[in-house]
Amino acid sequence: MITLSLNTQTILASLSICLMVYYVIKRMRFRLPPGPWCIPLVGHYQIYSSVEMHKKVAELSKTYGPVLRLSYGSSTWVLLNENDVVIEALVKKKADFAGRPEFSSDDAFSSGGKDLVFSTYSPTWKLHRKIAGKALRLYLRGDLLENTVQNNVNRFLDKMALEEEPFAFKSYVDLMVFHQLYTISFGEKRPIEDPEVKALLKLDEELIAELATGFLEDLVPHLKDIYPTAKWKKFLRLIDQLSKVLRAKYKEHVNTFQPGVNRDFIDSLLMARQEAENEGDVSALEKFDDTRLIQTISDIILAGLDTSRFTMDWFVYFMSRFPEIQTKCQEEIERVVGSGHPSIKDLSNLDYTEACLFETMRLGSVVGLGIPHMTICDTQVGGYDIPKGTTVIINHWALHHDPKFFKDPENFDPYRYLDENGKMKPSRPDSWLPFSAGRRVCLGESLAKPEILMMCVNLLQRFEIRLPNGVKPNLEYKQYGFGTELPPEYKIIVKDRNKN
Ligand code: HEM
Repeated sequence: MITLSLNTQTILASLSICLMVYYVIKRMRFRLPPGPWCIPLVGHYQIYSSVEMHKKVAELSKTYGPVLRLSYGSSTWVLLNENDVVIEALVKKKADFAGRPEFSSDDAFSSGGKDLVFSTYSPTWKLHRKIAGKALRLYLRGDLLENTVQNNVNRFLDKMALEEEPFAFKSYVDLMVFHQLYTISFGEKRPIEDPEVKALLKLDEELIAELATGFLEDLVPHLKDIYPTAKWKKFLRLIDQLSKVLRAKYKEHVNTFQPGVNRDFIDSLLMARQEAENEGDVSALEKFDDTRLIQTISDIILAGLDTSRFTMDWFVYFMSRFPEIQTKCQEEIERVVGSGHPSIKDLSNLDYTEACLFETMRLGSVVGLGIPHMTICDTQVGGYDIPKGTTVIINHWALHHDPKFFKDPENFDPYRYLDENGKMKPSRPDSWLPFSAGRRVCLGESLAKPEILMMCVNLLQRFEIRLPNGVKPNLEYKQYGFGTELPPEYKIIVKDRNKN
């Protein structure tokens, strides 16, 4: 017996050694990207826990090159800091980099990867992306987007016109953008002071504030099962609250759904399910369970809300600091639109104003570090090997501050996007990538650009935006977390341009 057990132990020990040797050899086979030294298992704590991670990473890439390797606890992160390696990974390598890594927080947020944003590359993800994309594109047809924006924005502008003292634009823009997405998703137009909308917005703010600062449970996943932190418990409570609201909205829609009548985004999803039902497409139907559809709605609202409201806030911040640029936009709006309502068609003739929005998206970093990708197979980028299962993060902030593409990157300069005739150049500077690229490119890009521009045009057509007396037009950037930068709290005064 003893001999047998010794033999078993010997065999097990030998097997473990063989496995370790195999693992080490396998790792040595790879030519991994370079990166600074770190304490094993802890990793580059000072970098990944910093609110300035995007800047620290950009700085390190000057020493180590555009493809940088860091350790996040026991896992490897690769950060891409220059346009050519980003395009190689996301566009030229097709689906190699289109996966999403598993983090405890994303998993909790997405009911176990059942959403669009955080679920990895799979046939189910593809199907949901396709139907969500189709539903969003409906808003680009005819004058639907134009009317939705007009109906929503003007009531906020009317309220702003009553402000006699300096006020925070943020208190308007957050609600303005949220009401917009609320109408798109749920088909309802609510009063601007609606308590339900305000409560949902507060919930979103709390959730993203938690997400932006990260969780210990992402670093040590088992912690959530053994001894979850107070921050984690709060996060789960917030997710639960949000999920209850979305479930109720979804249920209301299911109960009142009429085939062939499309009231909003939720109905578009229900119609896609109906089509699969009518066609007897069992494999598609399996992918259309209620949780997945509710998660898609949650993604559209949350992915669209913060990016859009932060972008608008940056736009007004820059306009208040650069009055000559603002005046040029207003002159252009007057010339192209006149005093009537701006239409979607007008947008293509508002080159200077559009260029200002593009420059806002470059300099106001609302997605500084992108949503992490994961390699779904062994692959390469920039001449380095990237093994399957590696987390890959795009440093959009570094791309947008690359002096090779943007001379004096700290300057706000709309002419970067315009040709000598003042028209938008046929293509953007290569390193301008606020919506990312490739298979996981932002699903809302084609909606977000005209929608935000439309809101900006309405705003500048109506108001002259100025800084309160005595406020210096400095540019400052408030670090929010994971590369996101926001304007510091600021106030403006507005003068109705239609009144003398
Ligand atoms: C200024 C506005 C916006 C910016 C800058 C922005 C930027 C981004 C970025 C950088 C990503 C990550 C892409 C990647 O993983 O490589 C993303 C993903 C996404 N965005 Fe946006 N976004 C904006 C507005 C919107 C809007 C309005 C919607 C929806 C109505 C939306 C829906 C999504 C979705 C669903 C994804 C996940 C795509 C996927 O994983 O396949 N976004 N966005």
